[in-house]
Amino acid sequence: MYPYLKNKNILLSVSSGIAIYKAIDLLSRLRKIGANPKVIMTKNAQSWISDQVFSAVGNCEVYYEIFDVKGGWIPHTELSRWADLLIIAPATANIIAKISHGIADDLVSSTALAYSKKAKLIVPTMNVRMYENPTNLSNLKMLNEQGWHIIEPEEGELADGEVGKGRYPDNIKILVHSEYLLTKKDFLNKKVLITAGPTVEKIDAVRFISNRSSGKMGYELAKEFSYRGAEVTLISGPTNLATPSIVKKIYRVENTQEMREKVLKEFQKNDIIIMSSAVSDFRIKNYSNQKLKKDSIINLELEKNPDILKELGEKKNEDQILIGFAAETENLKENAKKKLKEKNLDFIILNDVSRNDIGFDVEDNEISIISRKEELRIDKNNKRIIAGHICDYIFDRFF
Ligand code: PMT
Repeated sequence: MYPYLKNKNILLSVSSGIAIYKAIDLLSRLRKIGANPKVIMTKNAQSWISDQVFSAVGNCEVYYEIFDVKGGWIPHTELSRWADLLIIAPATANIIAKISHGIADDLVSSTALAYSKKAKLIVPTMNVRMYENPTNLSNLKMLNEQGWHIIEPEEGELADGEVGKGRYPDNIKILVHSEYLLTKKDFLNKKVLITAGPTVEKIDAVRFISNRSSGKMGYELAKEFSYRGAEVTLISGPTNLATPSIVKKIYRVENTQEMREKVLKEFQKNDIIIMSSAVSDFRIKNYSNQKLKKDSIINLELEKNPDILKELGEKKNEDQILIGFAAETENLKENAKKKLKEKNLDFIILNDVSRNDIGFDVEDNEISIISRKEELRIDKNNKRIIAGHICDYIFDRFF
């Protein structure tokens, strides 16, 4: 999900090269995300793929003529004004050389020269010897100094059979970077610590007890804060989720003791701390390295794990914002308010985990934000959107 690309005017400039077919996939994704794309192509790009393919896949207009002035509508100035984001993908050594030197002899290069906004992204893709040629590297350096964001090509086997740097990167990488460029940076210089996922307590060599949690809620929070400029540290229990590339610092832990140690180590460095993880309240008293026989499991002895959030509530300083989640099935508000008070939180986020359509394991959540002064209900939505509301709440109330 890329909420900040939705309804944005995105101009995809395409130059030639075998990787051009991947730009079709990028365009298709932009359309599905709900962005508003348009395409411009170099003449050489058209000898690889017809403009009609781009037009059909993107359900959008495709331009390639610089002098196609209609009724005073001048393509390169109008398109450069229209776009919120300019992406050049794939970018050949030729187009890189032209743009870095201000040459404007076709629609792609003249639109790039006329484009004066900050959100501009270029994806160099070519043979490794061309990429590593000092002239190309120096042109890329110039582009970087001119404010272009460059997504470096990947290493691997190239179309001509050579191996090296020059491959078109994963389109997800381009989308993540695009989203970053279009997201407001209201959490710049803020440090945020987020925990996510369950903790797992071993019973023996093969068995364990744990709490339900996919980690999605915490990961979406970590992404949202990162997109909005915060320096995020994510401490995650075991999950099946891929590490989000936008989150720069992530630690993986297994059990509650490990999570506690890591959280306590990071706690003082952070301005905002959010415990969204489903921490196991108990651990096994006599954990066995061997697989236990069935009969000896029936009388498992448990002991209490530390309450990490409560400990943070005792240690927190006045400038820190401490936030907990309350996963409840009954007496929702009453229980949440009790946790808010007992754990000395700035606010608590209540979710009803008795429902199957929100809470654990699913894409959506529905929450109430409860502080000492107020309660705010946020309707059911994708967890990323919910994370956005939580960020907005913090920004509005605390900064
Ligand atoms: O991961 P998902 O599948 O996306 O699901 C999200 C979620 C439902 C797990 C999440 O939204 C959520 O509710 N997380 C909190 C789960 C929980 O353990 O709630 P609790 O009410 O038992 O605990 C209250 C708070 O104390 C929580 O912030 C918890 O992290 C913390 N806690 C609890 C026990 C403990 N020993 N130490 C703690 O720090």
